[in-house]
Amino acid sequence: MTARVASAHPAPRLVGRLVALGACGSIAAYKAVELVRLLRAEGADVVVMLTPAATKFVAPLTLAALSRHAVETDVLGLLPDQRIGHIVVADAADAVVVAPATARWLGAMANGIASDAVTAACLATSAPVVFAPAMDGDMWTHPATRANVERLVRDFGYTLVSPEAGELASGQTGPGRLADLPRIVDAVVAAIGDRPVRQPDPAARPPGAGEAPEADLDGRTIVVSAGGTAEPIDPVRFIGNRSTGKMGVAIAEAALARGAAVTIVAGRVEVPLPVAATVVRAETTSAMRDAVLGAVIAGRADALVMAAAVADFRPRHAADTKLTRGGALTLELEPTEDILAEVGARARELDPRPVIVGFAAETGSLDRAPEKLRRKGADLLVANDVSEAGSGFGTDTNRVVILGADGSRDELPLLPKRDVADRLLDRVVAALDARPARGHTVATTTETR
Ligand code: CTP
Repeated sequence: MTARVASAHPAPRLVGRLVALGACGSIAAYKAVELVRLLRAEGADVVVMLTPAATKFVAPLTLAALSRHAVETDVLGLLPDQRIGHIVVADAADAVVVAPATARWLGAMANGIASDAVTAACLATSAPVVFAPAMDGDMWTHPATRANVERLVRDFGYTLVSPEAGELASGQTGPGRLADLPRIVDAVVAAIGDRPVRQPDPAARPPGAGEAPEADLDGRTIVVSAGGTAEPIDPVRFIGNRSTGKMGVAIAEAALARGAAVTIVAGRVEVPLPVAATVVRAETTSAMRDAVLGAVIAGRADALVMAAAVADFRPRHAADTKLTRGGALTLELEPTEDILAEVGARARELDPRPVIVGFAAETGSLDRAPEKLRRKGADLLVANDVSEAGSGFGTDTNRVVILGADGSRDELPLLPKRDVADRLLDRVVAALDARPARGHTVATTTETR
């Protein structure tokens, strides 16, 4: 008698397939991390898209590292080669799976409102779409949600992976919990079936993480300032700015990936800081000055990237107790220390001299940038027009001009901030390599404001 023995390792079912995973802003977004792993275990190449709300629940960096692709978080985002990110995904994916799908996303999708990368990719694709909702039980049973789900299934032909009943984030028990992940994977496998691979040409797929970056900053110490400073008016109020820290953090992450030891001098930031960096918190300009001088001058860093948006003025006197409502209030402001200019001046006394990088956030013309570079004693100045769409505070992209003290002017196209960071670090590496050999140290301060 012969027995059929089931293999403990069934053949992977998604080999050669590109699966686009779109995650929306639900507590269950963290499960997208495990879903990437399961899809990759089936042999799929996975590219992730996040709605803006989803980025509050799960870090794009985590998903980028696991998927080996940049994460699409911005419907206006362009790939480094200027292709439109969500369209490349839509054209190349063998399936799109939206998990978790929120009530908002169901409403947007049912009505074709492409205000985020996930909805836009679904609208633009002819691949099968699978969606797995997750939400509060009452939201799931609301007639609006029911009608939207019905539309997606009946009119669009999307595959629903129904949520399960169980304990929900609200503490209630009921329907609305994201389906078990293997059910979602099975639905993706079934939706693709035996269709031909849609885009076998890797060049037409979203670019991969590719080769690990060269460790060209190995052994270097880089200081990066990030975020905005806050100057107290009283114990509860401050003068701040719109910087989120994205550009500075992108520089820190890129420097870490290239082998540097990185210190982040962090003002107020709205993005997670890389765990591999040494973090020094410095909310006020005065605290940031001390932290930057300590890390760059005393700490003999190889480079400073001053990406922080530093206040130019602060209240001359901060009140010890909360100011109460009354008549008009006049604040007397005094100028703050210019950290970059001070480091630029003091760095001249050091041998080897650290490479100093400043940023210049301008609105409109960048004409003042060359003078600012000279005045601050920087080797490089990254100038951008923060009033331009896709550039400046809070965006994932930036269009910058890198000015060199040698008179060079490098105008970069609109790029993801991580790519801007790498192009800037290419210049920092070149400047470090051009220094006469002695010790090494580099620090970076100033954020893309
Ligand atoms: N900077 C600094 N300390 C300050 C202000 C700015 O170190 N008190 C740094 C920023 O981090 C940035 C560079 O100087 O790297 C240029 O900042 P920017 O605000 O563009 O220039 P300002 O010196 O403020 O000049 P202006 O207000 O005339 O634009």
